[in-house]
Amino acid sequence: MSSFDISKARSNFPILSTGYIFADNAGGSQVAKEVVDRITDYLLNTNVQLGADYSIAVQSTKRVLVDGPHEAMKLFNAASPDEIVFGSSSTLNLVNLARGLENDIQPGDEFIVTGEHEANVGVWKNLAVRRGAIVKFWKHRQISEENPYAVALRVEDLIPLISSKTRIVAFTACSNILGSIVPVKEVAKAVRTAAKEKGAKKVEISVDCVAYAPHRQIDVQDWDVDFCIFSFYKVYGPHISGLYVRASALQTSVSQIVHHFLKVNTVAYKLQPGGPGYETVYGSTGVVPYLLSLTPANDLKTTFDAISAHDLTLAKPLLEFLTDPVQRERGVRVVGEETASLNRAPTISFVVVGQKSLRSKDIVSFFDQKGGIGIRYGHFYAYTLVESLTPKLDPEDGVVRISLAHYNTVEEVNKIIDVLKEVFA
Ligand SMILES: Cc1ncc(COP(=O)(O)O)c(C=O)c1O
Repeated sequence: MSSFDISKARSNFPILSTGYIFADNAGGSQVAKEVVDRITDYLLNTNVQLGADYSIAVQSTKRVLVDGPHEAMKLFNAASPDEIVFGSSSTLNLVNLARGLENDIQPGDEFIVTGEHEANVGVWKNLAVRRGAIVKFWKHRQISEENPYAVALRVEDLIPLISSKTRIVAFTACSNILGSIVPVKEVAKAVRTAAKEKGAKKVEISVDCVAYAPHRQIDVQDWDVDFCIFSFYKVYGPHISGLYVRASALQTSVSQIVHHFLKVNTVAYKLQPGGPGYETVYGSTGVVPYLLSLTPANDLKTTFDAISAHDLTLAKPLLEFLTDPVQRERGVRVVGEETASLNRAPTISFVVVGQKSLRSKDIVSFFDQKGGIGIRYGHFYAYTLVESLTPKLDPEDGVVRISLAHYNTVEEVNKIIDVLKEVFA
């Protein structure tokens, strides 16, 4: 496994030198200096309206309409920059996608969704209401006999849901609560095989990679998926989202939602009404160079191999502490897979139940009072998942989530564990 120089990586995030421990990275990461420099450069030197013929406008247009999609395409491994849409958030990008698909959905079509983050769930539920489609749920199953909150998605629970009417299958590549990684390629292949057997005419697969993108490499071509989304603000970039839409879907499934006189029928721009923040699009072009700078190999695969290996060293001590028999006896239950592995991101959630139960809110307050470490609690918009857990939890109190990024260190994890020891004492 490759590795990277963690102090060099950290030097790209000046605030880390304060010693503050950022452990809410699944909420949003810190922004790499390369990204901030590009935003500053854009605003100070090329901040004019796109599309005009004067020289600065030509440069500005190139930065936003050419460089932006070109760099984002690398993060998706898309075949063409014409398959990339920018939007202010992943939630909004998916709302726009569903609007664009509206004319291609028939009453009785079936959508399969999960209970993960509502961004890739609610839009399909709403589209189903608008078009008379039917929604089916791919539910999590318990994967540990001892811990009812150790749940995960399994492909064998998805396949029986496929029928001749299946039209959309929407799932999340990495859970923003459970941290578990869904084997997207395997799932997409199983879906397509089952759909063919059942005689489904057209199935499109929508993958939410928002919690996945900071930890693993996306490959929409290898995965054979139609729609894919992530938010740059979780991947060391600014508040902007990239949506991938496969070229064939753009041509045959998606209607233009931008002004009728714009001639963009074959490119993803047809799903991009209005301009996203120009400086954020240009700022996002700093993400790939930052990621490539992590290892000498200069390729994203090596970078993500190194990040995955480091993720494992971060997740291991925390999960071992939380699942230690002493903590189990205390009532601590990991919500999600309990063991560290490459199939799991270092996004680690837990609850404290039983006679000495603790509210998630109070655990986080303890951290806040001590200061110096940022973590949080709640349902993190994976409301349906948290609501479905049994024994029941209050979804508003939800889980405590500690979510680590590649710039976190094992020393920081040990400091978090020290505070947890005080909380559980
Ligand atoms: C897994 C997942 N999907 C989607 C989203 C929504 O992203 P955005 O805030 O860009 O709309 C989030 C945000 O936390 C997320 O964690």
